[in-house]
Amino acid sequence: MPASEQLAIYPGSFDPITNGHLDLIRRAAKILNHVVVATLRHDTKDPLFTAEERMEMISQATADLPNVSVDSFDGLLVDYARGHGARLILRGIRAVSDYEYELQMALMNRQLSTELETIFIPASEQYSYLSSRIVKEVSRLGGDVSSLVPASVSARLIEKHSNLSVG
Ligand code: PNS
Repeated sequence: MPASEQLAIYPGSFDPITNGHLDLIRRAAKILNHVVVATLRHDTKDPLFTAEERMEMISQATADLPNVSVDSFDGLLVDYARGHGARLILRGIRAVSDYEYELQMALMNRQLSTELETIFIPASEQYSYLSSRIVKEVSRLGGDVSSLVPASVSARLIEKHSNLSVG
């Protein structure tokens, strides 16, 4: 099988990466030759972390996975994937409620590039409630998120929120 058919792009905001994302990356890395975790640089959702910070956190959390690399992108995902010779896009699905949005994106991406296929991987049950948004909210309000995100992310969330409350 040509290498490009075993290369997948896992795109997202990753603001910040959670244990749910990490679980999906680890499972995907077992069945694919290479996974590129690609964080959207200029996210309209006004991210808490800069693209560099998000990439650093992903790199630290995936340092033990030799077939996973980290990158960022701007513009259309299909252009980024094409530029890397990738034909697979990876997305996690936590619940049925995710499916509508994910299907819409997958079909739009297919419309834009017929060479690309989206693969949905179901989230593990223990992470099915987890999202970056909820992690940020709990952390901002002083809750402990250390079991929900990699250790370096937990430390950065505390630091970020204490800087924001001082500033
Ligand atoms: O983690 P998210 O925020 O759900 O990720 C969404 C993401 C980054 C995958 C999506 O917004 C995206 O691909 N943006 C790039 C712009 C693009 O290609 N849009 C058309 C696809 S609908």
